[in-house]
Amino acid sequence: MGEFYAGLARELTKLQEEHLLRELKTINGAPGEWVEIQGQRLLNLSSNNYLGLAAHPSLKAAAVQAVQQWGCGATASRLIVGNYEIYDQTEKDLAAFKGTEAALIFNSGYTANIGIITALVSRGDIVLSDKINHASIIDGIRLCGAQFLRYKHRDMTDLERCLKKAEDYQRKLIISDSVFSMDGDLAPLPSIVDLKNKYGAVLMIDEAHGSGIFGAKGRGLAEYLGVSEEVEINMGTLGKAFGCFGAYVSGRKVLIDYLRNKARGFIFTTALPPAVIASVQAAIQVMQEEKWRRTKVLSKAAWVREQLTGAGFDLLNSQSQIIPILSGDNATTLEFSSRLFQVNILAMAVRPPTVPLNTARLRLTVMATHSQEDLAWAVEQISQIGRELAIIQGGK
Ligand SMILES: Cc1ncc(COP(=O)(O)O)c(C=O)c1O
Repeated sequence: MGEFYAGLARELTKLQEEHLLRELKTINGAPGEWVEIQGQRLLNLSSNNYLGLAAHPSLKAAAVQAVQQWGCGATASRLIVGNYEIYDQTEKDLAAFKGTEAALIFNSGYTANIGIITALVSRGDIVLSDKINHASIIDGIRLCGAQFLRYKHRDMTDLERCLKKAEDYQRKLIISDSVFSMDGDLAPLPSIVDLKNKYGAVLMIDEAHGSGIFGAKGRGLAEYLGVSEEVEINMGTLGKAFGCFGAYVSGRKVLIDYLRNKARGFIFTTALPPAVIASVQAAIQVMQEEKWRRTKVLSKAAWVREQLTGAGFDLLNSQSQIIPILSGDNATTLEFSSRLFQVNILAMAVRPPTVPLNTARLRLTVMATHSQEDLAWAVEQISQIGRELAIIQGGK
């Protein structure tokens, strides 16, 4: 036993030496534009609460009311006795919000991706996946038993090369994040759709960071780019723009009926608590009534990107509310984050293996409800510290 624990301790020391040790930061109080950590108030540039809904009065009221009416736990999986009227209604609301025939709720984005992929493809099939797709997609592919090809990030020539290799497989499934979670850039969905049609493939997209943000109705990047009808499997999460928890897949009724029967990540787990479902229902309503939230988050993010690019930072190809600041090695990135922390800005460092080797970065996120004054102050601080750490040049 001693050797077992010593082995774990050695691994942790190695992570520490490589500046890769992960540690928890504990937030005090409600999630908002400013948060408190150990008595220090910080401007929060790291949450996925893009629309500022996590502590919205309507969501809180709906959750409290649901606890009073249905209690705390769902008591079983949906297919046993964990299905309440509010679940059916919320799935209808989600389908209407996404403009699809039906929708199915999963307990998280992680289990949704694993459940959907393993239900849809297996031996004899092939998956074509963007190289920087989210870890939950990769884990689903690893589990499903299908052949797997990764195409270069957003590279349509490479996707076509992979599709040519996929000819002899039964089902060909292309999977892409719509808005990439660590780069903030956008999948070229219309070109992916063209290739999908040309080679007889099926398309699954992960709108975790696109739903609620992009598109006139907030349905996501597929709506924004005019290809919603061409996406067979449209997955999204409820813990980001929605400010709640959980995930969903939307599409044709036959797809949803199939997944309800076959997706192990849906079948073999206790249903989400009713309070979570009630808050999702309230979030859908707020998103529809308060369109300004998605307009604002994108215009504020565009302003921040313009300022930081002007200051000389490399933001990769961000075109969304997710703004990476490339800072290179792990130690410099941690130093950058910690210097910002000292001036009351929460900008978390993201390091390998979450991102590829030598591309450590700060991952900034903009909220619809950040004030212009706070964002301007943050840009100034980030630029000042960036110059001091020689991440950018110049002596403004
Ligand atoms: C693109 C993407 N898909 C799936 C997930 C997983 O979602 P969840 O946090 O609900 O498990 C995340 C984020 O965590 C994500 O960024």
